[in-house]
Amino acid sequence: MVRLVVVGAGGLVGRRVVRVLGEDPIPDLKLYLTGYSESIGKKVEFRGESLQITRTDLRLLKHADIVLLCTPAEASVELVQEIRGGPVIIDTSSAFRMDPGVPLVVPEVNCDEIFAHKGLIAGPNCSTIQLVMTLYPIYQEFGLSRVHVTTYQSVSGAGYKAISELETSSFDFIATGRANHGEDSVFPHPIAFNLIPQIDAFQPNGYTREEMKMVNETRKILGEPDLPISCTCVRVPVFIGHSEACLVETEKPPCLETIRESLNRFPGVVVLDDPPNQVYPTPLKCQDTDPVYVGRLRRDLSSDRGVLYWAVADNLRRGAATNACNIVKALLRGEKT
Ligand SMILES: NC(=O)c1ccc[n+]([C@@H]2O[C@H](COP(=O)([O-])OP(=O)(O)OC[C@H]3O[C@@H](n4cnc5c(N)ncnc54)[C@H](OP(=O)(O)O)[C@@H]3O)[C@@H](O)[C@H]2O)c1
Repeated sequence: MVRLVVVGAGGLVGRRVVRVLGEDPIPDLKLYLTGYSESIGKKVEFRGESLQITRTDLRLLKHADIVLLCTPAEASVELVQEIRGGPVIIDTSSAFRMDPGVPLVVPEVNCDEIFAHKGLIAGPNCSTIQLVMTLYPIYQEFGLSRVHVTTYQSVSGAGYKAISELETSSFDFIATGRANHGEDSVFPHPIAFNLIPQIDAFQPNGYTREEMKMVNETRKILGEPDLPISCTCVRVPVFIGHSEACLVETEKPPCLETIRESLNRFPGVVVLDDPPNQVYPTPLKCQDTDPVYVGRLRRDLSSDRGVLYWAVADNLRRGAATNACNIVKALLRGEKT
């Protein structure tokens, strides 16, 4: 029997983890769900059973086989300090991603890293996951010399409080014509009917922490510490689904048809690209699904090594829960690729 504890099970990512595990069951799994405050006592459906979320108990965690942390970074740091050396821990937060001793894993890209773990494996940022899954097939065929990305990130990337904020502020805006922005707001500016070119705090280099996470995590996962990459991350009034406008320059001259085929063949990626018929991915189309969808694939008009595309994925599933569950499954299979 595999004892798996999902911590933060009542949050946006935690709930998706339970859903994903229910859709593709792991044999002989005993699932425990824990939380911190608001979710305690709530019931969650799992394969016909109603599981209750209990207070996070360190003894339960220490005696588990696998602990999947769907918690804010500060909580993950505290929990890892307490339980490391017991279960294998998979952390979806940003706390340990850039720690050189911690594998940062997207199983479709660097599955073998999982088996180098020393008790702790990190899942990347949601925007990084969908980016590397589209970069990797291009990297394998043509090499990468430069990447530039602009993201359009949904509010669910900021947790469940951000969902209520978009709901309430949208109703208020329509009712009053004014943008409400309280002191307890999740975002630095009103989010309803707006765009905010800031996700997380600004760094001394003028980029935000979110932007630097994408840069550093992408380099770590691809094993290319000097890959030239920069990005602009924008929060948009969409509930679920992150979109990315990507410009990629390749080392070898790129061939669009080969890139299209490589992307379509890559596990977890689906090409949706028929512009004359208005076929391309949108966040609403991708919600509650697992693939990373790619469309608007075209040549860069400013460089003969450049290719542009538009990639969209459900940030809660592909960008967190599905990736974490795929790590669990790979660990249990115990096979290197
Ligand atoms: N949202 C995304 O798209 C996304 C993508 C990739 C990675 N992540 C990362 O995944 C983690 C979870 O994100 P989320 O969006 O699911 O956030 P969320 O909706 O705010 O949920 C966070 C959950 O963590 C629980 N929690 C907080 N402190 C805890 C503690 N000390 N012990 C146990 N549980 C605790 C909360 O429990 P209560 O409800 O009981 O208070 C809550 O259910 C974050 O680190 C985030 O950065 C998120």
